[in-house]
Amino acid sequence: MRRWDVPGRVNLIGEHLDYNGGPVLPVAIDRSVTIKARARDDAMVNVWSDLSGAAKVSFATTVQPGDVDGWASYVAGTIWSLAERGHSIPGADLVIESRLPPNAGLSSSAATTCGVASALDDLFGLGLDRTAVALVAQHAESGFVGAPVGLMDQLAVLNGTAGNAVLIDTAVTPHTTSSVALGWEADGLVLAVIATGAHHSLADGEYAARREECERAAAELGLEWLAQAGLDATVRLEDETLKARTRHVLTETARVRGAVNAIARRAWPQLGTILTASHASLRDDFQVSCPELDVAVEAALEAGALGARMTGAGFGGSAIALVAPEQVQPLRERVEARYAAHQWSRPEVFVVHAADGAHRVPN
Ligand code: GLA
Repeated sequence: MRRWDVPGRVNLIGEHLDYNGGPVLPVAIDRSVTIKARARDDAMVNVWSDLSGAAKVSFATTVQPGDVDGWASYVAGTIWSLAERGHSIPGADLVIESRLPPNAGLSSSAATTCGVASALDDLFGLGLDRTAVALVAQHAESGFVGAPVGLMDQLAVLNGTAGNAVLIDTAVTPHTTSSVALGWEADGLVLAVIATGAHHSLADGEYAARREECERAAAELGLEWLAQAGLDATVRLEDETLKARTRHVLTETARVRGAVNAIARRAWPQLGTILTASHASLRDDFQVSCPELDVAVEAALEAGALGARMTGAGFGGSAIALVAPEQVQPLRERVEARYAAHQWSRPEVFVVHAADGAHRVPN
């Protein structure tokens, strides 16, 4: 049995930029998915997971898009994606355990696809490096599951290191990554996650729609990537929706640079202001927030957070807040009270630390 541990991620800042050629700054977190893999030789794959109440799902190694749905499609998609790249496997038993809350938007999907690809690469000596694993995992999501995602989540859960964020430049192929040391804990701050538990079903169609709008705006401006847009772009575009999407992309690109700078100078109030401004832009210009996320951010700020924003694709999932450790409990109580008043289910609030990316663990 090979055992791999793969973290989830939060995105500190740089939202919806990874398919626009912008910089993104995710953080691998100390909540993970564990994948155990054992070889079979009968061209079958069996998967057991706590995501499904430990029920077994089986499919052939020749599985095709449409054959498997639900959570297991991420696993089947990875087997299919490996085969598409010439890495057919003889068969496998896989056991998947997740310590990421469901619907949290903390990339349990990237942790699963990258973990399955890493464990099978290890088991069968496929010779994949991290970039190849990330591409296999992304192709599984876009070609099999049907979500046209960027590469941020995969690169974050593979390349994260304890104490650091991963700065990714998505304007170049392959994307380059570097570490950004996060010193806020030494200065008496922590990063809290507010997992709303909300998942709005329009999420996937809206993600693809935003992507298409950004591509249209870039084409109208004659740019390869929308993140290259200058301040004149919003004047040159006529369509109000494309203007707003572009405004988010170009201001968010500037905010990532500002955030990296603030982190280097340990200017935490400034970082907080930038995080909160990112939320406003995602809510008003990119329009991917939802009432649960907006209330989580408002409540975190009311409880004294230096800054807060939604993280990930949006329409549910989680928000993050930069807070003093002693403010975490008041923040939790305030968010819970606001949610109770709306009769929404209880959110989960917990502190995360920057953790190492995917790695093999002894049995
Ligand atoms: C999801 C996708 C990423 C990225 C974010 C938004 O997490 O998987 O590729 O586009 O949304 O920043």
